[in-house]
Amino acid sequence: MSNAQTRRLWRDICVFDGLCTLPEPMAVITEGDRVASLVAMRDFDEASAQGCQEMGRGGVMTPGLVDCHTHLVFGGSRADEFEARLEGVSYEEIARRGGGILSTVTATREASEEALFAAARPRLEALIADGVTTVEIKSGYGLTVEDELKMLRVARRLGEVLPVRVVTTLLGAHALPPEFKDDSDGYIDLVCQEMIPAAAAEGLADAVDVFCETIAFSVAQCERVFEAAEAHGLPIKAHAEQLSNLGGTAVAARHGALSADHIEYLDEAGIAAMREAGSVAVILPGAFHTLRETQQPPIAALREAGVPMAVATDANPGSSPLFMPTLMLNLACTLFRLTPQEALAGMTAHGAAALGFKGEGRVQEGATTDLCVWDVDTPAALAYAVQPGRLRQRLFQGELTHV
Ligand code: NIG
Ligand code: FE
Repeated sequence: MSNAQTRRLWRDICVFDGLCTLPEPMAVITEGDRVASLVAMRDFDEASAQGCQEMGRGGVMTPGLVDCHTHLVFGGSRADEFEARLEGVSYEEIARRGGGILSTVTATREASEEALFAAARPRLEALIADGVTTVEIKSGYGLTVEDELKMLRVARRLGEVLPVRVVTTLLGAHALPPEFKDDSDGYIDLVCQEMIPAAAAEGLADAVDVFCETIAFSVAQCERVFEAAEAHGLPIKAHAEQLSNLGGTAVAARHGALSADHIEYLDEAGIAAMREAGSVAVILPGAFHTLRETQQPPIAALREAGVPMAVATDANPGSSPLFMPTLMLNLACTLFRLTPQEALAGMTAHGAAALGFKGEGRVQEGATTDLCVWDVDTPAALAYAVQPGRLRQRLFQGELTHV
């Protein structure tokens, strides 16, 4: 039987469906790349087991994890910066001295496409081994048209070679490259007039992102990038309110942003704009932890407003050199007081929505067979303990994968 028709059956399994934990042990049947049925174990009709491959009993089933914010493709390392920060130099200070993101830009420009691919592959394999079936990968360390496209090509190729769906985001407006020093508007011209059109023409970007911050670009500059993205039919996202409150989130939301990410300094007006626009709040506890930030994102207010919260690794060489999605579940709970259910929804249904896949990241009848089965007793246990090796089975588009 070809994999496309394989019927698989899990018995007596606890299901976290992407939004909540189902109240009873379930029997789940998948047929090829679709979830065919989900029934409570006590209502299970043994006749429907006919022809099914038995996949086992017990454990917890979740949708495949969605890591909706990463910078997995980069050259070099920033271990030296890690040490400098431990000695008290701030992330902003390092950036102002031309280190930080710009040091990764130098290494990424120097690296060949092949070298970038070889370096990124094990990082992505680490995410896959921890349950990820959809991952977003941003550019943003090239900062020339050619180097940004090079990064996006590597991201696309990773998705062709590995069993994971890769969504690409052009982050040309990530930092001001040295050749545009004192001419940040000139650089934004390049992003809007050349980079976005080139990435769109080659079909290399699924979305466009900006870094709206004092050490990066102003709200007005980011708005120009949003307008250029719109002109090319590309959805937008924003790194905003990470280190200060500039109001970038509200402007991004007014442009219909899929998400605003980081948002530690987000205020009431920003939350209202997000609610209005239906934007997803992407919480990045890895960057908060690594940079030893103290300003908490306004979790209670977001919850109150009903703004969906996603959780992602932000895996990158500087602010979050952390390549373990289930660690983020733990950090989202311990640092930000998300409930384990909220954290899990943040890495499944809401993570999918942050990438424009509203309604995905679910285990329900008709859903794509992107699933994980974990050797834990309850969904909360995934956030509770930080323990590699708990992924028992992973299915990507109906294929049982082992990485
Ligand atoms: O999401 N905030 C800006 N960009 C990245 C950091 C990238 C880096 O430090 O290399 C982030 O934290
Ligand atoms: Fe980021």
